[in-house]
Amino acid sequence: MNIKIFESFSDKETFDIAFKIATGLKERTDATVVCLDGDLGVGKTVFAKGFGAGLGIKKDIVSPTFNIVKSYEGEKRLHHFDVYRITDISELDEIGFEEFLYDDAIVLIEWSKLIEEALPENIIKIVISKNLEKGFDYRKITVEGMKDEDFRD
Ligand SMILES: Nc1ncnc2c1ncn2[C@@H]1O[C@H](COP(=O)(O)OP(=O)(O)O)[C@@H](O)[C@H]1O
Ligand SMILES: [Mg+2]
Repeated sequence: MNIKIFESFSDKETFDIAFKIATGLKERTDATVVCLDGDLGVGKTVFAKGFGAGLGIKKDIVSPTFNIVKSYEGEKRLHHFDVYRITDISELDEIGFEEFLYDDAIVLIEWSKLIEEALPENIIKIVISKNLEKGFDYRKITVEGMKDEDFRD
């Protein structure tokens, strides 16, 4: 399994890392599911903002916590989920979760670990974590499941 690790020391760096990852993924023609996990306040939404910008989305990506999903048009369509408030997996059926997975778009899911049983097999997993020994603003960003050709300079 292809695992890449990035280190960030500021919001801006996390934004830029996410931007770069999105730049590589937008060339894909198949539906792509990107899972984004990590504790509250670790920077998932900061990452989502950079990710959206990298897809050529002009609007600011805001947290969709209360409506679970928000969709954006860019060079590539983005469906941004935040499933933090889901208490039962059946709530996903109500919003037609499966349909989003078959769209020619990128699906980015904050808190994907809460809906693990509903996720497809082929996903890109991104985990953000802190390490206070390396500073308050330090974040480790682990990316699993991207192909080498998905990373562009
Ligand atoms: N290296 C970093 N990367 C991302 N966010 C950072 C970083 N350092 C500090 N922060 C701060 O951490 C917070 C992350 O918030 P947010 O993205 O909403 O987290 P989450 O969506 O994971 O709950 C923001 O206040 C941001 O300014
Ligand atoms: Mg968030």
